Amino acid sequence: MKLTIIANGPIVLDTDESVSVSVDGETQTQKGPLFLCRCGQSSTKPFCDSTHRKVGFEAGAAEFAGD
Ligand code: FES
Repeated sequence: MKLTIIANGPIVLDTDESVSVSVDGETQTQKGPLFLCRCGQSSTKPFCDSTHRKVGFEAGAAEFAGD
């Protein structure tokens, strides 16, 4: 699994495994990569819808990797 925080953008969860995501009480299973909003402005939270570009979101980058 790899977690990438994109500069001025979302968090990317990249995994070969299925991931259970619960949104407003509804659980769905998805395969990675998942693009997760961190600007707080997405209309499809918790997922990124690219609104971060329109609102000029600025934040740093990072990477985390594990088994
Ligand atoms: S990070 Fe992309 S819409 Fe929030």
